[in-house]
Amino acid sequence: MISIKSPREILIMKQAGHINYLVHQEIEKYLKPGTSLKKIDSLIKTLVEKQGGTCSCYGYEGFPSNACISLNDEVVHGIPDDRKIKNGDLLKIDFTVRKDGYESDMTKTYIIGTVKKEVEDFVKRTEQSLYEGLKVIKHGAKLGDIGYAISSYAHKYGYSVVEELTGHGIGSDMHEEPEVPNYGEKDKGLTLKEGMTLAIEPMLNMGSKEVYMADNNWTILTDDESYSAHFEHTILVTKDGYEILTGE
Ligand code: MF3
Ligand code: CO
Ligand code: CO
Repeated sequence: MISIKSPREILIMKQAGHINYLVHQEIEKYLKPGTSLKKIDSLIKTLVEKQGGTCSCYGYEGFPSNACISLNDEVVHGIPDDRKIKNGDLLKIDFTVRKDGYESDMTKTYIIGTVKKEVEDFVKRTEQSLYEGLKVIKHGAKLGDIGYAISSYAHKYGYSVVEELTGHGIGSDMHEEPEVPNYGEKDKGLTLKEGMTLAIEPMLNMGSKEVYMADNNWTILTDDESYSAHFEHTILVTKDGYEILTGE
């Protein structure tokens, strides 16, 4: 069952999403070479709780940290440890915020220091691919339109789309129906309806789309060790388009 959220539920999700957005803004100034992933993780917890939310990734299916922090060729579900970030790293920070029984989910890829122009372009275009996916969303559009928009934009630049992981419905649960693949066919699949809330989250690789799971049974990495980038927003489907819930 895909739930349609009430105005009250949407309001709470917006509050959760705003905390998610704010903490992403605040965390940026701490992302200096030499900072450990664990330190970033504990800062996120402190900042989220200061805003009245909780980090619901913690303990989710046994996940051991507050945020998923994935470096370079790690695609998603990186577990923050004692590694320190350094110049040239791509740092993906993905976390959920729970407030008053509702969830929000947001990811950004941060560039630490400077990277080659081609890597910078890759990160910018991965972010743009999220907006390409969002642009087609409105009441009456099809789920396949989203994946088609994301993947055709990514392929235009020679990037690949990770297929093993998808976006998802979101609400009182972090992961609700439907799955939202980052590939698809135009005009195919489920019809979107006003009041649905979705997490849209393209994961693109600079090299091959193939990925594997690390021995920790969480972290997903690229087979060819190429860079991966990831952006995510929680959105509301509206009559004429969409509204970003993880925003200002
Ligand atoms: N935030 C992730 C997503 O985008 C889910 C993380 S699950 C966790 O769907 F257990 F790793 F936290
Ligand atoms: Co997420
Ligand atoms: Co998500």
